[in-house]
Amino acid sequence: MKYPPSLLSSFFLTARSFLIVCLGLLCQTAGAQTIKSPNSKLTLTFTLQADGVPTYQLTYKGRPVIKPSKLGLELKNAPALTSGFAVTDTKQAAFDASWQPVWGEVKTIRNHYNELAVTLTQAATQRTVRVRFRVFDDGLGFRYEFPRQPKLDYFVIKEERTQFALAGDHKAFWLPGDYDTQEYSTVTSNLSEVRGRMKAAVTPNASQTTFSATGVQTPLMLKSQDGLYINIHEAALVDYSCMSLELDDKNFVLESHLTPDARGDKGHLQTPVHSPWRTVIVSDRAGDILESKLVLNLNEPTKYKDTSWIKPVKYVGVWWEMITGKSTWSYTNQENIKLDSLDYSKVKPNGTHAANTAHVKEYIDFAAQHGFDAVLVEGWNTGWEDWFGKSKDYVFDFVTPYPDFDVQELHRYAAGKNVKLIMHHETSGSVRNYERHLDRAYKFMADNGYNAVKSGYVGDIIPRGEHHYGQWLNNHYLYAITKAADYKIMVNAHEAVRPTGLARTYPNLIGNEAARGTEYEAFGGSNADHTTILPFTRLIGGPMDYTPGIFQTKVSAYNPDNHSFVHSTLARQLALYVTMYSPLQMAADLPETYNKFLDAFQFIKDVAVDWDDTKVLEAEPGDYITIARKAKGKSSWFIGSTCDENGRTSTIKLDFLDPGKKYVATIYADTKDAHYEKNPQAYAIRKVNVTRKSKLAQLCAPGGGYAISVVEAAGRR
Ligand code: NOJ
Ligand code: CA
Repeated sequence: MKYPPSLLSSFFLTARSFLIVCLGLLCQTAGAQTIKSPNSKLTLTFTLQADGVPTYQLTYKGRPVIKPSKLGLELKNAPALTSGFAVTDTKQAAFDASWQPVWGEVKTIRNHYNELAVTLTQAATQRTVRVRFRVFDDGLGFRYEFPRQPKLDYFVIKEERTQFALAGDHKAFWLPGDYDTQEYSTVTSNLSEVRGRMKAAVTPNASQTTFSATGVQTPLMLKSQDGLYINIHEAALVDYSCMSLELDDKNFVLESHLTPDARGDKGHLQTPVHSPWRTVIVSDRAGDILESKLVLNLNEPTKYKDTSWIKPVKYVGVWWEMITGKSTWSYTNQENIKLDSLDYSKVKPNGTHAANTAHVKEYIDFAAQHGFDAVLVEGWNTGWEDWFGKSKDYVFDFVTPYPDFDVQELHRYAAGKNVKLIMHHETSGSVRNYERHLDRAYKFMADNGYNAVKSGYVGDIIPRGEHHYGQWLNNHYLYAITKAADYKIMVNAHEAVRPTGLARTYPNLIGNEAARGTEYEAFGGSNADHTTILPFTRLIGGPMDYTPGIFQTKVSAYNPDNHSFVHSTLARQLALYVTMYSPLQMAADLPETYNKFLDAFQFIKDVAVDWDDTKVLEAEPGDYITIARKAKGKSSWFIGSTCDENGRTSTIKLDFLDPGKKYVATIYADTKDAHYEKNPQAYAIRKVNVTRKSKLAQLCAPGGGYAISVVEAAGRR
């Protein structure tokens, strides 16, 4: 049964309010149900197969995106919720409303969709599941809902059986399926090649838990042979296990694979409850995938009454010097020591401990001088001697500084210069230990003037057997975020589950890592095309604390024993502040280096971290991305462009600028002979007058790119 688009569109309220429509006759009808996106380009069809198996399919401009695909779940010690269903109710609705994020890529987000909710009842067991579909102009979201009911109360998920049947052997940008890390290099291959390339993909990271030869993580970016861009992910992952995808590589059918707990179970639920949304973003223009707000729209509005304390942050930090091996997190060189009984004032310092009061003051001075909001300090607290070791169940207490780190004095010094310190909580995976200390740790922060924490979950999880992306841990991450909100603390969690748009609901989640960040440039390097892929994959769920801005691209300059290099030109490091969206941006290199390149550093000082508007000017996953963003509350724009190892000429129009206005564009670009490996620091800066009629053709070196600040010309409105 199909609703004519004209009938549906008459339900859209231009006044932007909500309307539920149940067309009486159809509500009780089994069989196919169809809804379209507001612009009619997408069509979602729900069908109940003869054996009562629920299926859905999706088309875009008449082309198949998801072919008929099964829905359902298998339960532990209970009959499966996969077949034998009858449709007992259907409801349609339309929604159109706009909202303003606390921070974001645009000022206002339109949430506009048509909805179909199908209630399915399994006659044999008298259990009910509702599947709710929302079709937006940019894609589809759907989830399982389990209403409160006599025959389904507590239940344990054995596996979710949601399929995404693809129309062909698409090109895929994928990471090995893993329950504990997303810090892999992305593999670009056809789906039919995933199996053959899995072993090599996993090996460099010595993954703990790759679950099969064809399991891949989400967000999964796909491109069909005929030019459809498809992104599969999930939204609002709450009290549920993270979804990866198993690939049937003969038929190109992906199927959900949930992260197990220590006993192998995939989720413990109690009705009324629902799954996260499963999302499919689709377009024939790659830039639309980057501009999509579908994942955010499928999350709930913020739960916080007061969000005035949540602010985007540009920061520097005592960090890269430890990552490169120039200095250490730990205060001593002792290993295998009994940390719980160690008196640090009696042990010999190693002389390389970076988080000492005098050195941190230098960073505070640098931050104050150049207008940064904050300084991150890692290695300030006791326990780093054995953070990978046996004693990690009690290694960190999050409140005891090393003897050379004076918390009160640094608080006083930083406050006097209008700079905040960012707290660091490395849990080393000992989550029980962290939860035991959390209240005290946050109180310690509040007492000492900290309003943001970078947390970390490196290593195997304690309780033993739990995985980083299982339901138990996912609940922990959210607990840490909401608890932090009680203290008006912002959270940037590393090694936590990859984001699914939850920052809409909990906007103090200002950052996550959950992918291969800049740190890997000091651990052997990342591919030169890495930052042309991440916005299409990891960033679909939310911002990343990627930590760009490395100007000294040879790591050996800091540590002669480390021969890694940054797979990027210096100009491209600037571009990342625009192309890798985050309300939390680090200038990750050392002050001593920035002082040598103050002309290029100016861009990092100027670039905004919060935006009123965003335009994707050019994009092709794995090849290049060029984005322009308008600074929040200002007339200036910033443009960033990143390309792969081949280099290219980027051609853009500045037609997004305001009519009648004149601007000065400062262009930070690779020189002709620049190259990410051979000549990364070759850049040139030029200024040109521009208007909205201007066009630009700009060379990007191999592994390079460019950054532009576009500022309204003074007094010439
Ligand atoms: C891994 C994080 O990604 C990195 O940023 C941090 O410095 C170390 N863990 C130590 O916590
Ligand atoms: Ca990490």
